[in-house]
Amino acid sequence: GSAPGLQRTVVLVGLMGAGKTCVGRCLARMAGVPFVDADAEIETAARLPIAEIFARYGEAEFRATERRVMERLLERSPCVLATGGGAFMAEETRALIRAQGVSLWLRADLETLVARTAGRSHRPLLNTGDARETLRGLMERRYPVYAEADVVVDTTQEPPHTTARRAWDAL
Ligand code: S3P
Repeated sequence: GSAPGLQRTVVLVGLMGAGKTCVGRCLARMAGVPFVDADAEIETAARLPIAEIFARYGEAEFRATERRVMERLLERSPCVLATGGGAFMAEETRALIRAQGVSLWLRADLETLVARTAGRSHRPLLNTGDARETLRGLMERRYPVYAEADVVVDTTQEPPHTTARRAWDAL
């Protein structure tokens, strides 16, 4: 990808702390398209913070809202779209992404994820128990599925603009 603009929306997938938001912003600037954050759009649609949606309505309801929001966002003109870490895990959402976007997995090792998510209380999945153990479990379950993404870029111990540059070259 060196031509300005994008043919299709680039959908960033990966675990919490992988850098989807930071790398996404850089990538959008390089591509000259808007950056859109699916979690922020969900919060606007629900008029509640993510943690509050989980607490009041549970994860299943959050996933249903996430799918509806993703469907709407993927209909827009191409952009760089950061998703919450679980979006690509839902089969229907993954099918949507596959049909309408280019998926880009930002892979990171456990140490990087632990360091980047330390002390972030807005993430309901990391609020209970040991964050390192939770992330380790999520890596085990999710990485085989994230690996189905169209493009994979490693972000371990690297500044976002470097990762964004490599992603841009790989797209
Ligand atoms: C989640 C990741 C969060 C948010 C929600 C669930 C997940 O987004 O969507 O807390 O299941 O991994 P980030 O990956 O942007 O933190």
